[in-house]
Amino acid sequence: MEYNIFAQHLKDYLRRPGFWFILLILILLTLLHYSEVFEYPPSFVSWISGLGLDRHAFERILYLAPIVWAGFMFGWQGALVVSVVALGCMLPRGIFISEHPADAILETSIVFLIGNVLAISFASLRKEREYRKQLEISQQEQQKIAEELKVMQQNLRYYLQQATKAQEEERKRISHELHDDTIQALVVLSRQLDSLASKKEGMSEENRVRLEDLWHQTDNILKGVRRLSQDLRPAALDRLGLMPALEWLASNVSEHSGIATEVNVTGEERRLPEEVAIALFRITQEALRNVWRHSGATRAQIDVEFVDAVTRITVSDNGKGFNIPRKLGDMAKDGKLGLTGMQERAQLVSGTLTVRSTAGEGTVVTVEIPG
Ligand SMILES: Nc1ncnc2c1ncn2[C@@H]1O[C@H](COP(=O)(O)OP(=O)(O)OP(=O)(O)O)[C@@H](O)[C@H]1O
Ligand SMILES: [Mg+2]
Repeated sequence: MEYNIFAQHLKDYLRRPGFWFILLILILLTLLHYSEVFEYPPSFVSWISGLGLDRHAFERILYLAPIVWAGFMFGWQGALVVSVVALGCMLPRGIFISEHPADAILETSIVFLIGNVLAISFASLRKEREYRKQLEISQQEQQKIAEELKVMQQNLRYYLQQATKAQEEERKRISHELHDDTIQALVVLSRQLDSLASKKEGMSEENRVRLEDLWHQTDNILKGVRRLSQDLRPAALDRLGLMPALEWLASNVSEHSGIATEVNVTGEERRLPEEVAIALFRITQEALRNVWRHSGATRAQIDVEFVDAVTRITVSDNGKGFNIPRKLGDMAKDGKLGLTGMQERAQLVSGTLTVRSTAGEGTVVTVEIPG
């Protein structure tokens, strides 16, 4: 297995031109180092002797080049291999041919050491540069993903906005249709049954009782359809605005749940854009529905504040309270969509929703919308 990895590495090295280049330099340097015929120009010889070097010491320094180059190309392992080869090339001359073997061996060892230190430093420098580059690439990728996520979020928000708008339009249409057609037809039917039932002559008692029963049933259906139509879209919201719609909501909850619900207003009421008024109404409606279903409260309060550039509605109750999760959205996966929906609705009109609850003391839901 290890042999296979070694062979694979060797094959890779052999394929790289840099490997052959280093080999060529090593051969040329060694030929130069052992050559007795080659002579340097006298000016060059005097220049290196000015540096305190003789010809062979200078050549030993030249061996640093392939060692450092190998470090660049193949890391510190490559530099080590090349420096060992260079050592093997330089030592015979230092030991057997040189007039000062001790100096030659010392110079060779220094070249070996410096070569490796330089190669290791360059290799780690290169690694650091690569790491930085990698970091930069991954940062760019992260930024790209963040931007894509932002666009997706914007698209989703736009889609939700459109879906909510369409849902409200549909509710309005059905509510108006129920009001204008179904309820009117039931009113006419109820009146006809009433007038028939009140005609005494020519009708048996049994038929009259039956007619009266039919009239009662029609009346009940009429009330049910009226309730449904109001639930879908309270007429007050479109005809009179937010405050009368909230008053109607409070009295409706008081009447049907027995929870005393009142509305308080602070500041001067202003006309809000339709989508803001609808959002505030629906959030209050769901908050009151929660009070009714979960709180066990005896009192609830709707505080409406028109302050500065903000409209704030606070729905509070004196019920049993509950544990609020860290993120309201976490409740959605358990099929509890009310609070999440309220938060979404608030955000769709650039508002915020906060919920505070204390065990035994009740719950406070606040929605704040600019404008
Ligand atoms: N005013 C409140 N008093 C006590 N508990 C509350 C109150 N409002 C909410 N809760 C608790 O928070 C939970 C989540 O409310 P949420 O409106 O999100 O869902 P839900 O009412 O259970 O279901 P739905 O999706 O039909 O609204 C409720 O199940 C209830 O336990
Ligand atoms: Mg709910």
